[in-house]
Amino acid sequence: MSYNLLKGKKGIIFGALDENSIAWQTALRVHQEGGSFVLTNAPVAMRMGAIQQLADQTNAQVIPADATSIEDLDKLIDESMEILGGKLDFVLHSIGMSVNVRKGRAYTDQNHDWTSKGWDVSAVSFHKLMQTLYKKDAMNEWGSIVALSYMAAQRVFPDYNDMADNKAYLESIARSFGYFFGRDKKVRVNTISQSPTPTTAGKGVKGFDGFISYAEKMSPLGNATAMDCANYTVSLFSDLTKRVTLQNLYNDGGFSNMGVSDAVMDLFEQQQSE
Ligand SMILES: NC(=O)c1ccc[n+]([C@@H]2O[C@H](COP(=O)([O-])OP(=O)(O)OC[C@H]3O[C@@H](n4cnc5c(N)ncnc54)[C@H](O)[C@@H]3O)[C@@H](O)[C@H]2O)c1
Repeated sequence: MSYNLLKGKKGIIFGALDENSIAWQTALRVHQEGGSFVLTNAPVAMRMGAIQQLADQTNAQVIPADATSIEDLDKLIDESMEILGGKLDFVLHSIGMSVNVRKGRAYTDQNHDWTSKGWDVSAVSFHKLMQTLYKKDAMNEWGSIVALSYMAAQRVFPDYNDMADNKAYLESIARSFGYFFGRDKKVRVNTISQSPTPTTAGKGVKGFDGFISYAEKMSPLGNATAMDCANYTVSLFSDLTKRVTLQNLYNDGGFSNMGVSDAVMDLFEQQQSE
C-alpha cells in the first residue's frame, strides 16, 4: 500500500547488494511512496550485477562509490544532484563489514589492521558521507539521514565481535553530526537499531541462526524483518517525523527492553528436566 509519503522527495540509497539487503527492500518501499533516488554500492559489489535489476524496477540510476573514499563520495553527491535535479531530501547509509568477522578472528585475537578497515567501512564512512553532504550544502531543509545499527552497541553479543564497537561509534557519529546538521541545515540524523535479519552481512556473523531464533523468542512482537525496517525508514524520511533527530531508534519487536520471555524460560526449563 502506498501513502505517497515521499512524493517529490529525492535521495541516495547505499548498500543494496541483493534482494535480502535491508537497503534493497527500502529502495522498493521508497519508490512505492513516490521518492526518487540514486542507488550506490562499493565498486566490488557492482560486479555481482544484481543492483541493476533493482535500478530498473525503481527507475533509479546506479553510481558506484566506495563509502570510505571522499573522492568517490564527492563525485556521487555531485552526480546525484545533477541526475535528480537539485538537493537531496533523504540518505540511507546501510553499510557494514568486519574483516575479523569475515575471517573468523575472535574478539580477543583481532588483527588490528582489519579492525581499522572494518571501522572505516562500518562507522567512519558515515562521518565521511555526512561531512561531504554538509560541506556541499547538498541536503534540503527538513531532510533526513538514516544509518542502520544493532543493539550490540549497548549490550554484549560475543560473536558480533568488533562490529559491536563499530556500531557504538556509528551511533555516536549520528548524535554528534546530527547536532551540527540540525543547527545549521535543519536536517535530521538518526540510527535504526534493527533485529537480526537474514542478509549477507547478517548471516556472516558466527552463530547467526542461534541468535536470530533467540531474538525471535525473546521479542513480544517477534523479529523485525527487512521490510519492517524499510517501512520505519520511510517514516523517518517523511514529513511525519520532522523533529525526530539524534536518536537511536529500536526496530526490534521489543527485544531491547526484555529481560526474559516465557518462550525462552520454557525452553530452558525443558532442557533442565531432560
Ligand atoms: N542483517 C542484520 O542482522 C542487521 C541487523 C542490524 C543492523 N544491520 C545493519 O544493516 C546494514 C545493512 O546490512 P544488511 O544486513 O542489509 O546486509 P548486506 O550485506 O545486504 O548490506 C551491507 C552492504 O554494505 C556494502 N558495503 C560494504 N563495504 C562497502 C564500502 N566500502 N562502500 C560502500 N558500501 C559497502 C555491501 O556491498 C552491502 O551492500 C548494515 O549497517 C548492517 O550492519 C544488519
